[in-house]
Amino acid sequence: GGSTAKDAKGDDVKVSAFIAGKAKGDRELTQGLKGDPTYIVVADGTIADYGINAICTHLGCVVPWNKAENKFMCPCHGSQYDETGKKVRGPAPLSLPLAHAAVTENDTIALT
Ligand code: FES
Repeated sequence: GGSTAKDAKGDDVKVSAFIAGKAKGDRELTQGLKGDPTYIVVADGTIADYGINAICTHLGCVVPWNKAENKFMCPCHGSQYDETGKKVRGPAPLSLPLAHAAVTENDTIALT
């Protein structure tokens, strides 16, 4: 099953609005699969074909993106993940799960 990425109000995120004013590599949270906070990544004039689940695989804190460090750094117990969600420091046991992200004909983001 899939879903569309939603904003904080529960509306579908429009890709054109999402990427406007953002730089390639920027990451921003949406509500993704099953309502889990999911990062969508800005690519060249569109979005990357993957979203990154923001729930820390240790104990479930939402992991902020640290642009200066180019990492996701969990504030709860210090786990770190690289820019694609791969675990680089524990105590997290696993990398952040990825979803496939695609732009629909309605300019929304399908996550599967
Ligand atoms: Fe992220 Fe523990 S919940 S390091």
